[in-house]
Amino acid sequence: MKTILVTGASGFVGSRFVQRWGGALRILAPTHSELDITDEASISRYFADNRPEIVLHMAAISNTMQCEQFPQESYKVNVVGAKNMAHATAASKARFIYFSSEQVYNGNRESGAMNEDVALSPESTYACQKLEAEQLVQELCPDAVILRVTWMYDIAQTGLSTHANFVVRILDAIAKREKIYFPVREFRGITNVHEAVELLPYTFELPAGIYNYGAENSLNTYETACCFFEMLNTGLKCDDIIAPDVERYPEHERNIAISNAKIFRASGGCICFCDTLAGLRIFIDRFSL
Ligand SMILES: NC(=O)c1ccc[n+]([C@@H]2O[C@H](COP(=O)([O-])OP(=O)(O)OC[C@H]3O[C@@H](n4cnc5c(N)ncnc54)[C@H](OP(=O)(O)O)[C@@H]3O)[C@@H](O)[C@H]2O)c1
Repeated sequence: MKTILVTGASGFVGSRFVQRWGGALRILAPTHSELDITDEASISRYFADNRPEIVLHMAAISNTMQCEQFPQESYKVNVVGAKNMAHATAASKARFIYFSSEQVYNGNRESGAMNEDVALSPESTYACQKLEAEQLVQELCPDAVILRVTWMYDIAQTGLSTHANFVVRILDAIAKREKIYFPVREFRGITNVHEAVELLPYTFELPAGIYNYGAENSLNTYETACCFFEMLNTGLKCDDIIAPDVERYPEHERNIAISNAKIFRASGGCICFCDTLAGLRIFIDRFSL
């Protein structure tokens, strides 16, 4: 059994990965203070002491607003940190699995599901940092697997980190009987984090390269929210809670919806995501929402 080092193990995805796979796989899950990815000496020591064979690099400043407000601080973690980890992984001949983001597509003007080989011109700080990190990871670790991950959701659970996500925001708005706005000019996949975590071990065996990772979705985010709301059968009127935001993204539609055909093929069909609506239906049933 290979030893898997998970960075960002206290985060939204990392904590669920450790919870799901901790009993079945040999996982190292250092805290931020035990392994600071911005500190090269700390990384060298950690690799020498623990000799990981697979590095699942999830640590990041993932809050996009925080990246806009503090670009230098987030650069240090999202770009320099990723570079440091890729460098140490290459030196120890381990396999690097890097968590990038669908946001790298946010400057694209094409419609339809994005493929991995489209030319990119990201517009936000977070997206630019993720793309720069992808490029550094590929240079330093040609054998790396890079996952362009969609927006993920879960409800809050004890012991697991959760930030405001699609499902939490809607459930919260319903509980408070408040209106919540979703953009009509945004297209993106929205994925059950448990599905993403369940399929992650298959990524360890993928051929090197860049892969979209998560659910496909042809609806805009407002339509997706309305569909989810109706699935919940609250007895409330959808219009009283879910409202269209028609102003967001005035320059061009934000289309970061992915095609996941490449990873499906490369994994021999093992990495097969439900589409966004099917994933939400399964999620409602699983948690009896
Ligand atoms: N969540 C999503 O929907 C989503 C979508 C697309 C891509 N992604 C990407 O997927 C990955 C995981 O996302 P997430 O939502 O789980 O992120 P998250 O909840 O924000 O967790 C980030 C993790 O990084 C750690 N970290 C930050 N700075 C660090 C440093 N200098 N050294 C070591 N650890 C550090 C944090 O530890 P502390 O809290 O202790 O600082 C935390 O465990 C990220 O790369 C993110 O960009 C996420």
